[in-house]
Amino acid sequence: MAKNKRCSTGIPNLDKKLGGGFPPGPRTILVSGGCGTGKTTFGVQFVYKGIVDYKEPGILINFEQNISQLKEDMLNFGFDLQKLEDENMLRIYDRSSAEEGKHDMISFLIEKAREIDAKRIVIDSMQTLEYLLGSEIQFTIASTCDALKRAGLTTLILAESRTDEIDISKDVESYIVDGVIILSIHEALDTRKLIIRKMRGTAHTLKPMEMRICENGIEVD
Ligand SMILES: Nc1ncnc2c1ncn2[C@@H]1O[C@H](COP(=O)(O)OP(=O)(O)O)[C@@H](O)[C@H]1O
Ligand SMILES: [Mg+2]
Repeated sequence: MAKNKRCSTGIPNLDKKLGGGFPPGPRTILVSGGCGTGKTTFGVQFVYKGIVDYKEPGILINFEQNISQLKEDMLNFGFDLQKLEDENMLRIYDRSSAEEGKHDMISFLIEKAREIDAKRIVIDSMQTLEYLLGSEIQFTIASTCDALKRAGLTTLILAESRTDEIDISKDVESYIVDGVIILSIHEALDTRKLIIRKMRGTAHTLKPMEMRICENGIEVD
């Protein structure tokens, strides 16, 4: 990715609203929302489209789900993760890799990223990562974000919130991340919305956008 080029989100209309995508230079973006709001799908789509449309290898860290089930679910959107893994453009790490990386999660992630020259990484989810690492580990989201940035990776951190508001743990202050996207559900109206709460270096709307999870993945109006 050229230095001055924005990083496509994988959602065409969201790119438009962001003047082309996430701001140039490796960035850290927090995607926050309640359960079922589409965080995992957003993260997978970001990495999948990055590979298919921009030839940018990617890494998915998913501590929450069974990976073969995740692959099956994502095939519903046409996201063939297995194929990309076979092509060595994608690596997926699950809960068991937390054990492997436990003593130095930052080096673990960077080593894995270097192996495939990854440009994008998704951490799903922040809460599970913190929980798995435990309090005795000298691990902070801030230093991880910094290290991943220095390694040239655009990082999405997915965070489960209880409300529509940002409800992130004390370790991630909102100033650490370059952007915050909030996903939510309006049950009574049977609709979803996406809000760009913050995006450094970008003029953007603050209005909620209508979001849908369709057969091709996430779309916004
Ligand atoms: N094939 C599909 N078509 C449309 N919507 C789907 C499809 N598969 C899942 N969904 C919707 O996506 C939701 C799960 O999204 P997910 O990205 O896992 O959310 P989160 O990670 O925020 O919990 C489901 O609860 C369902 O509403
Ligand atoms: Mg999820």
